Amino acid sequence: MITLETIPELKLKLAGIREKKLEIGFVPTMGALHPGHISLIKRAKEENAAVICSIFVNPTQFNDPQDLEKYPRTPEKDMDLLQKAGCDLLFMPKTEEMYPGKDPFVSTHKKVDLGALAHVMEAQQRPGHFEGVIQIVSKLFDCVNPTRSYFGQKDFQQVAVIRAMVKQLGYTTAIIACPTLREPDGLAMSSRNVLLTPEDRKKAPLIYKTLSEVKEMALCQPLDSLQEYGREKLGNAPGMKLEYFQIADAATLLPVKSMNDAPSIVACVALKLGKVRLIDNMILK
Ligand code: PAJ
Repeated sequence: MITLETIPELKLKLAGIREKKLEIGFVPTMGALHPGHISLIKRAKEENAAVICSIFVNPTQFNDPQDLEKYPRTPEKDMDLLQKAGCDLLFMPKTEEMYPGKDPFVSTHKKVDLGALAHVMEAQQRPGHFEGVIQIVSKLFDCVNPTRSYFGQKDFQQVAVIRAMVKQLGYTTAIIACPTLREPDGLAMSSRNVLLTPEDRKKAPLIYKTLSEVKEMALCQPLDSLQEYGREKLGNAPGMKLEYFQIADAATLLPVKSMNDAPSIVACVALKLGKVRLIDNMILK
């Protein structure tokens, strides 16, 4: 695996790959890699001749400076995992490389109209977060120009935002959404899980358990009572501070009242467990 830190080096290397008309699979990440990330690399490997991964802890998408500061960073382990998974090229730029201006928050912004996506769930709880995601992912797409790009369903709203961005900015990359990998007890794998205290780690599977119960009950109970159930169960759990438990149209992410309101329906949750923010979701239909 080749590791590069600068955009000119990356573009030069990719020009060689493109000359050979090879298809490029791209997996953008913020590092602290776990099997969930690696599942994206493996999928990209199956479907493309060359696999590029990026690791960049993007400051502009963190609305909480403490979250950015304590975000786990494990570059040596990441490189080892990527090498073993068959990644061909790792792009690991420094902040100045991606944001050469004085202020990363103002440079290189592309405007995307997120419509309703800008007002629900993650967008509401984390002001500016998706603007930061769009800023970095568009810049990475400009550098890599991938054939296919791989994202996890775990960040359900992020996938919807990226799809809107691709459509509006005219990128040609295909967006491939991949299933959420979970720990044996159901907790969705996340780089932030290592920040949980051992006690909180034991409490965390309640999120998956509640989503699974709601999915089962969705066959026979009205959605508003299920939403109430989820809100009570996670809102009243010791140590958990619920931000939202929302049942929504999987395409628009707008709230729905009945299972007949949309072709596909998803339950999304965000909460703080101790000091760690966790998100998860489950397709109900
Ligand atoms: P990060 O949180 O590192 O995640 C990188 C990719 O891995 C995302 O597409 C995410 O949805 C996926 N992923 C995370 N946990 C997963 C799991 N348990 N199973 C399957 N896939 C999982 O998401 C970001 O970084 C950033 O916002 C980024 C897109 C890189 C822009 O900075």
